[in-house]
Amino acid sequence: MTSNRVLIFDTTLRDGEQSPGATMTSEEKLEVARALGRLGVDIIEAGFPAASPDDLAAVKQIAQTVGRTHHGDRKPPVICGLARAVKGDLDKCWEAVQGAERPRIHTFLATSPIHREHKLKLSKQEVLDQVRAMVGYAAGLCPDVEFSAEDAGRTELDFLCEVFQVALDAGAKTLNVPDTVGYLMPHEIGSRIAHIKERVVGDRDDVVLSVHNHDDLGLAVANSLSGVLAGARQVEVAVNGIGERAGNASLEEIVMTLHTRKPALGLETGIDTTLLHRTSKLVTRVTGLQVQANKAIVGANAFAHEAGIHQHGMLSHRDTYEIMAPETVGAPKTALVLGKHSGKHAFAARLEELGYQLEEEALKKAFRRFKEVAEKKKQMTDADLLALAQDELHRPVERFGLVALQISCGTGDLQTATVRLRTQDGEEPTCAAIGNGPIEAVFAAIEMAAGIELDLLEYHVRSITGGEDALGEASVNVRGPAGTAQEHKVFHGAGADVDVLVASAKAYLSALNRILAAREAERVAA
Ligand code: KIV
Ligand code: ZN
Repeated sequence: MTSNRVLIFDTTLRDGEQSPGATMTSEEKLEVARALGRLGVDIIEAGFPAASPDDLAAVKQIAQTVGRTHHGDRKPPVICGLARAVKGDLDKCWEAVQGAERPRIHTFLATSPIHREHKLKLSKQEVLDQVRAMVGYAAGLCPDVEFSAEDAGRTELDFLCEVFQVALDAGAKTLNVPDTVGYLMPHEIGSRIAHIKERVVGDRDDVVLSVHNHDDLGLAVANSLSGVLAGARQVEVAVNGIGERAGNASLEEIVMTLHTRKPALGLETGIDTTLLHRTSKLVTRVTGLQVQANKAIVGANAFAHEAGIHQHGMLSHRDTYEIMAPETVGAPKTALVLGKHSGKHAFAARLEELGYQLEEEALKKAFRRFKEVAEKKKQMTDADLLALAQDELHRPVERFGLVALQISCGTGDLQTATVRLRTQDGEEPTCAAIGNGPIEAVFAAIEMAAGIELDLLEYHVRSITGGEDALGEASVNVRGPAGTAQEHKVFHGAGADVDVLVASAKAYLSALNRILAAREAERVAA
């Protein structure tokens, strides 16, 4: 019998983190994992432990904390790690996840002809043998094993069924069908799942069929839903749809489709939908991957009504143009809330309503920032408060902090920036640099003062709310210094301030601090 409960398997911290520039520090991963636990996801894929000692440590920490935290009478989420189907990876994965109350090993091997021939150089029989041996080995370590047939979407259907049968017999409890390259269309996924269900799973209710879709053709969500309608009961998703290339199916879109269309589908998830907006914001913040304004559920315009005729309809009855209420997904209203005369209690109470319960120290820091900003900006909205709270909470450890910034602007290429930084040892390097524009000058002065040269790949600045005194949020993507291990990695940074030049300086410093943290982690691991 097929249940009506769809398991949400979140891979923001694994497939999502594979997006260029989305590298997260271990503290950020833990913060996201905590948010996913509160959100109510069933399984958190916390990383790929064999990829680096850093990843192993992060998964271990998540397993021992989030993987042991109960939310009311809800059990902790399953904590899962990814492993290639080889003993070394499986051992590392088990080492990382075993501290969780409900650990899972997720192992995979490619099965399509193109991967067998060109990547693995294995025959069909050799693939079957490896799956049997390695799923069996994983099942000997961990009671919960998931097997994925990588590039299942382009694998011969008969052979795919054979592979899954072998994995099932060897002890896998979840069979995942990834469309690794996002090639298939909804009806094709649906018929594949129905076929595998009939031929391999049959009546077994201890086995879960799972879908994992990539968005190369923009079909990941539709394909996943089609898989669910055909009998899959686990969907692999990422917050904001981040992931390799065009990304994974978006968690919030799948969840809200199942929620909004429940009368038609009769399916449900364990997600607290009112936390979706906040979780999306957190992931944007720590990954630096911005969500486009028209993105479903969590985009800035998802609940905005511009056309007069729509506004008129909305005023008469919300349902005319709204299929779900913004509060269902926890989207903050843009009501004016606080000003410079507001006290710490009002500030803390509003933040709590928005889902932030800050420790005393963090609250003091955030309130100090609030007062500074409120001095310059007359009206503070919920969006402003969220930006400030996140800016304070998710800043990497500051090897270099900003003490002062002075810009002199004019015509031609004579823009000058002077910056004073503060190191952890209390030194205050101060440097001035010129640039073709103020931003170039600011970034050059920071590099001089920190004694490090970065390669700027992307720079964005946006205003958080409207108006001349809007709070500005800057984000950058940079590559680490040439000749270091960070040269080929993309690091992001973000900063918020009423002055966009200060916000930009903070964003650049936050990326720089991330690079220094990665160097430090590398040094400790060596
Ligand atoms: O896309 C893919 O095939 C994957 C697997 C490892 C599940 O991410
Ligand atoms: Zn994937």
